[in-house]
Amino acid sequence: MRISKKDWIFIAVIVAVFGTFYLISGEEKTTRVPLDDIHKPSYELFKKTQSKMEADKGCPACHYEPGGVPFPAKHPVKPKEGPSRCLFCHKLKLAGV
Ligand code: HEC
Ligand code: HEC
Repeated sequence: MRISKKDWIFIAVIVAVFGTFYLISGEEKTTRVPLDDIHKPSYELFKKTQSKMEADKGCPACHYEPGGVPFPAKHPVKPKEGPSRCLFCHKLKLAGV
């Protein structure tokens, strides 16, 4: 069977819908950034800049491998594999962020 252009569009829509569900469900389950003394500077930086991307830049200072705070074996991304958007998945313990 040949897959027509229409079929590909249909497949793309399905994938997008499931991808969105996956992202939404991931967002709610992923561990939040602890609100402790270690992470306080990251919270302060976010409050000051109102930018998660700015706050993200500080995470790999401690969270890196090997030598830093290790990631779980199945962690989806690690700092050396690309830009660190930690807060995209690990939410801050703040309302509405
Ligand atoms: C694409 C989503 C995603 C991104 C981006 C991401 N993580 Fe994770 N992280 C997860 C998931 C999923 C887990 C495992 C399940 C959980 O902890 O909720 C996890 C687990 C962790 C854990 C262990 C948590 C525990 O409970 O033991 C740490 C620490 C961590 N991530 C730090 C980071 C840091 C630092 C960054 C940025 C460099 C980052 N993560 C970027 C999804 C992500
Ligand atoms: C000054 C070092 C440092 C910085 C900067 C830092 N972390 Fe951490 N992080 C730690 C240490 C140490 C732990 C393990 C002890 C703990 O849970 O507090 C940890 C634990 C975590 C955990 C797992 C919490 C749990 O419940 O198991 C997550 C998620 C996390 N950090 C995310 C982040 C994110 C996102 C950033 C950037 C906004 C960040 N951290 C910045 C040192 C740091």
